Amino acid sequence: MRTDTIFSPITLGAIELANRVVMSPMTRDRAGPADEPNAIMVEYYRQRASAGLIVTEGTQPTAEGKGYWRTPGIYTQQQIDGWAKVAEAVHAEGGKIVMQLMHTGRVVVPANRGYEADIIAPSALPCPALVPGPDGTPVPTAMPRALAADELPMIAEQYATAARNARTAGLDGVELHCSSGYLINQFLNPASNKRDDEFGGDAQGRVRFPVMVAKAMADAIGADRVGIRISPGNPYNGMDPIDAHDSFSAFLTALTEENSGHAFAYVHLADIKLEDMDAPAFVRQHWTGPIILNNMLTLDTANQALTNHVAEAVSFGRPFLANPDLVERFREGAPLAKPDYSLLYQGEERGYIDYPPYQAA
Ligand SMILES: Cc1cc2nc3c(=O)[nH]c(=O)nc-3n(C[C@H](O)[C@H](O)[C@H](O)COP(=O)(O)O)c2cc1C
Repeated sequence: MRTDTIFSPITLGAIELANRVVMSPMTRDRAGPADEPNAIMVEYYRQRASAGLIVTEGTQPTAEGKGYWRTPGIYTQQQIDGWAKVAEAVHAEGGKIVMQLMHTGRVVVPANRGYEADIIAPSALPCPALVPGPDGTPVPTAMPRALAADELPMIAEQYATAARNARTAGLDGVELHCSSGYLINQFLNPASNKRDDEFGGDAQGRVRFPVMVAKAMADAIGADRVGIRISPGNPYNGMDPIDAHDSFSAFLTALTEENSGHAFAYVHLADIKLEDMDAPAFVRQHWTGPIILNNMLTLDTANQALTNHVAEAVSFGRPFLANPDLVERFREGAPLAKPDYSLLYQGEERGYIDYPPYQAA
């Protein structure tokens, strides 16, 4: 009987992890004025490189993909150069890093962008939730325009270009953000996708564009360097949780190697604990590749998930905020530091790169 722990190495697709502790993607709103990774971002990721794998904060593949304040992009040379410094720093510490591609679709506060660009979505329906503006105060989002069917291959190609750019910058791969009510999730969910063409309607229609994007990214850089992030039933940003079973079984099934012709590196599940679904078991049922399990895990529950073959790797978000050396702390049974949550999305280096490792504390 295999007894894997969080410290056991694993290979996800083409990416070899020294341990199974993944750093979950976390938006921190600290990119430079051209949405480029800056020196404090390089230092932040360098400090956390003992994770088996870092998934970066959500990063926009295009100007239209930006909805929040100071999120980084991966579509200009300056942004690619900034990410190259991040990747170099993480690799120098022996870590691995993939970029989360996050196109927010209709979840846009125009003032967060600092430029004019279209706001696009499957249907012309605004996000019902308020979203933080430049000063952090939640405000209504703008009205999107519905994408025409003949634009969709071009949007998929933008994701593919972004994936290529991430590889050019030296990152180990990309993760497609398919949850939290952003563009891909907007296509999957019937509350935001009211299209009457082949990209809407039943679950088979609603998954068509998300699958097109995933395949375009796989064609661009190899499926073994592309992960998929989902959170079935998550109501964030106006998604209807009723959708969890239909959409996500259709989506996962379409992405399996047998059906897509691509062996994607992993599915990263943010398990929000639904009453009518055991999400890890559901993913295992519909998906044949590796699973990274996330949400509210502790050292013990993470190890249990691996021992019980619920997942192949585990990811931690908030524990990494104030514990850059989370893996070492787990190894030594050291106590975990608590973050200052008032500095999640502001403070520049404060509450960001000033959390010391355990020995120095
Ligand atoms: C400050 C913050 C920012 C986040 N940003 C993202 C993001 O950009 N993309 C994403 O998929 N999830 C994002 N998340 C969700 C985390 O990746 C993770 O799923 C969540 O924190 C639950 O894991 P945890 O209990 O280990 O923190 C964010 C979470 C936090 C706390």
